[in-house]
Amino acid sequence: MSTAFTRRAFLAGSVAAPAAYLLVRPANAQETLQPTPACGDQPTVRQTEGPYFKPKSPLQRDLVPAGAGGPTLALWGLVVGLDCRPVAGALVDLWHADDTGAYDNVGYRCRGHQFTDERGRYLFRTVVPGLYPGRTRHYHVKVQAPGGPVLTTQLYFPGERQNAADWIFDPSLVLTLGDDATGRTGRFDFAIAT
Ligand SMILES: [Fe+2]
Repeated sequence: MSTAFTRRAFLAGSVAAPAAYLLVRPANAQETLQPTPACGDQPTVRQTEGPYFKPKSPLQRDLVPAGAGGPTLALWGLVVGLDCRPVAGALVDLWHADDTGAYDNVGYRCRGHQFTDERGRYLFRTVVPGLYPGRTRHYHVKVQAPGGPVLTTQLYFPGERQNAADWIFDPSLVLTLGDDATGRTGRFDFAIAT
């Protein structure tokens, strides 16, 4: 365990969930984080934007479309700087296929953004994206500290059969899945330049 990771674990592990986050906080939220892309070591890996990004997504936390089938997920985590400190007010812009594997390129279905709270936390409730030809299961995301550069990347699910065949799949971008009283949770902590 590196010094940087230890420091990061201390900072991130000391975060307590506000009321809104208690709905989705996994039971092990106070435990040491898994070594996903670690601040102090390297920033979260960048990935291609893909063809379906749309600017000016709505400010919304609940991206579950009306009538959606399939499982939902509370997608949450921290945004920290390369100094391992939480970044407040960071933009987290999420877009993804719906549960059938389709993108809405006309409206803003399964598209939205949030800003991290004072402790660097973000939270969305959305569907588990469906598969579409040529890719494994994934979310698209852009993360930006106030006044900082934009990180564009993608997030993946563990244990997906298609991961190994996806040409840009990166194991450092896999969600940590869990469960709480409200259902399935997926956590990913971003380490970004500020
Ligand atoms: Fe995609």
